[in-house]
Amino acid sequence: MHKFVDILVKTLEYRDLYTRGHTHRGVFYALKIGESLGLSSKELEYLYVGGMLHDIGKIGIPDVVLLKPGKLTEEEFEIMKLHVILGYQMLKDLDVPSEALDIVLYHQEKYDGTGYPHGAKNGNIPLLARVYTIADSFEAMTSIRIYKKGKTWQQAFQELEELASIHFDPDIVRYAIKALESLSYVEANYSNINTEAEKIRWSFYYIDESGAIKGDLFLPTLKAFMEQRDSFCLTIFDIKNLAMINMEKGWEEGNQVLRRLIEAINIQYCISYNIKDLILKLIKENFVNIESPVVFRIGGDEFAVIAPYILPPEKVLGVVNSMKSIGINIDYLRVRFPEDFSTYKEVLEKIFAFTKLKLNTHL
Ligand SMILES: [Fe+2]
Repeated sequence: MHKFVDILVKTLEYRDLYTRGHTHRGVFYALKIGESLGLSSKELEYLYVGGMLHDIGKIGIPDVVLLKPGKLTEEEFEIMKLHVILGYQMLKDLDVPSEALDIVLYHQEKYDGTGYPHGAKNGNIPLLARVYTIADSFEAMTSIRIYKKGKTWQQAFQELEELASIHFDPDIVRYAIKALESLSYVEANYSNINTEAEKIRWSFYYIDESGAIKGDLFLPTLKAFMEQRDSFCLTIFDIKNLAMINMEKGWEEGNQVLRRLIEAINIQYCISYNIKDLILKLIKENFVNIESPVVFRIGGDEFAVIAPYILPPEKVLGVVNSMKSIGINIDYLRVRFPEDFSTYKEVLEKIFAFTKLKLNTHL
């Protein structure tokens, strides 16, 4: 049984690197809580198997939802919720003990009946699932993710207490806190995260079809540059006749123009970085270590370039001229920090004024 469990867990870990470690630590906590409750060795065995397999249904969740780096929308969350039923269906005809299967099916239920999939309440949630939920939540609260810092154990204990009778069985919470307090801090080990796969995963989300980085990361980067750099340069490029090209020649032709612009920017700005490494730096908020200009797509036909040094205006004109030579007109705005703007509000106003001006000239 353990071998079979290991294979399934590894399969999920290869799809979602961030479950690595999470499952093992969650199960470790659950067993400690189980021991303090005086569970039998059989029950602890079910707790182990059910805990290891609790999220196995995530294998059936599409990448765009399972691996999404940001917060899920309501629709995406509805899809994510399916993992409970999927896991149950995967395992129900196999040789998995029903007590372990209960953990898979009930681990997202809440004590007050507001959980899923069935909205089961109190004693209607099987005991082992009530135990596992606490361990799983404690692990999630205290663990570090690329996009969030973990809570301290003290903060997590407090949260468990606050959620007693709401999310968690209050009687088990008391035992859980006692059992977990007796553990020394378990260091999260991320050294085994496969960085190549991690890079592919993040870049999948953040590289636009034009080859630029998606706008989501533009404002955080701009803000961080203002806080961390003494000087830098921001350029906004706007393609004037993209809509026309799309309509007259088709969208593939329009996309070709976008890629040509990115190419021209890369050449003029001497951009030589590996975009996947760069995205990893941006996500990890490692802005100080960015030594090369970064290109973001901030609108349908607008791109922003943040350069960590002040570029001569000829470089910008170089981009404009090379696009002109293939019949594409480009508007641009080039501003320097701190010469041309010194506050975030100021730079937003400049960007807005440029966009508005452009709208007026288009009319
Ligand atoms: Fe889950």
